[in-house]
Order: sequence, then structure tokens, then C-alpha cells
Amino acid sequence: MSAKKPTTRSYPGLFVVLEGIDGAGTTTQTERVARAVREDGYKVMTTRQPSDGPIGTLIRQALTGRFVLPEGAGPLNPQTLALLFAADRVDHLEAQILPALERGEIVICDRYVLSSLAYQGISLPTDWVQGINAFATPPDLTVFLQVDAAIAADRRADRGGNPELFEQDDQQERIAKEYQAAIRARKGDKLVKVDGTLTPEKVTEAILKTLRPMIKKAAQG
Ligand code: TYD
Repeated sequence: MSAKKPTTRSYPGLFVVLEGIDGAGTTTQTERVARAVREDGYKVMTTRQPSDGPIGTLIRQALTGRFVLPEGAGPLNPQTLALLFAADRVDHLEAQILPALERGEIVICDRYVLSSLAYQGISLPTDWVQGINAFATPPDLTVFLQVDAAIAADRRADRGGNPELFEQDDQQERIAKEYQAAIRARKGDKLVKVDGTLTPEKVTEAILKTLRPMIKKAAQG
């Protein structure tokens, strides 16, 4: 990847990102939308951040408390985690996302830079988080799944398991606010908000309503 800041699209594929607080349904919708677009006859790569690469794997260990500081000092500090998310993003773009976009595929990524702005933004200056992500290729479309923090909390409770690092209810309220601030502050990127409290079928339908015309346009070059 060039060290210059990416500005314009220079690949034949389409880069789509799904965002929302924990329990908003990004993982479910990534798979559902991918299935529908594949049925339309297009090649789709689904992926996620943190990625399944080496740094992403380390991050997942940090989120579940398996990777901590020595001497009982607790979880990684917010700066370290923010830098890891940004580093994972660079590797993930280079190894998987950009090659797929260059092959003309539709890439659907479960979380991206907006997650860093929202999650790391609760404890760090936005400008700094933005700065360490400055080289990240902007998505062609970001879909924000809007779900009230209380509803998302119920969904996480139904799912069971131990809460991850950011999954405390009060934190999720703050993350939801940071998302809205980051959405308001973003410049130029195409973003649609979809009501994530609808049935999974209806959410998929709403996403496809925006996505299908974009795919058609991209396919026409
Ligand atoms: P998540 O998609 O919830 O993974 P899983 O379904 O396996 O639990 O993502 C893991 C967590 O990482 C989630 O709480 C959001 C957080 N996160 C950040 O804090 N910053 C980021 O830049 C990204 C991509 C995720």
C-alpha cells in the first residue's frame, strides 16, 4: 500500500461496512446481506474487525481478558488498544480487503474505523483516534444499525457468555453517543442509518435497498 493518504476510489469492487453497538446485529446482517448479494450473482467477501490476522487475534484475547498486562496491572490501556485496532486495520486492508476490491469483489466488513471512533472515543481524543486511522481506505458505504442501548443489552443477555471489555451497559450508552457524534462529524463518506430493531428480514431488506443500486452502478464501471 502506498504511504499516501487514500482519497479516491481506485478499484473495481465495492467496500461496505456495517456498524453499531454490541448487540445491534452487525454480524447477523453481514452474513444475511452477503447471502442475498451472492444470490444476485455477485462475488462477495465477508470479513470483520478485529480481523482474524495476528493483531486481530491478539485484540480478541485482550477483549476477553486472556491477554493482560503483567504484575496484575489489568487490561491493556486504551491507547495501546486503539493503536492495535489501527494496526490491525492496516494489515487487514493490505492482506485481504484491498486485494478483494482489486479483484472486483464486494467486501462486507463487520466494523471498521467508525467503531474505533465510537469505542476508543469514549476514553481518548477523537482527533487522535482519527489521526492513527488516517490511512484507512474509506468505505463506499457504511450502514449504521440503530438500536437502543437497552434493547442491545437484552440481546446480549439472551446470547449469554461473559461480557467482553466494552460490553458493560453504561459503557454501551456512551459508545452509542460517540457513534452519533462520529456520524455527525464525518466528512463526505456515504452512510445510511437503518432501524436495527426491525426483524432481521426487514433490516436486510432496508440495507439492500441502498446497496443494490450502488452495486449496479459499480458493475457498470
Ligand atoms: P465484535 O464484532 O463484537 O466481536 P464478537 O462478536 O466476536 O464479540 O467486536 C469486538 C469488540 O471490539 C466490540 O465490542 C467492538 C470493539 N471494537 C473497538 O473497540 N474498536 C474497533 O476499532 C473495532 C473494530 C471493534
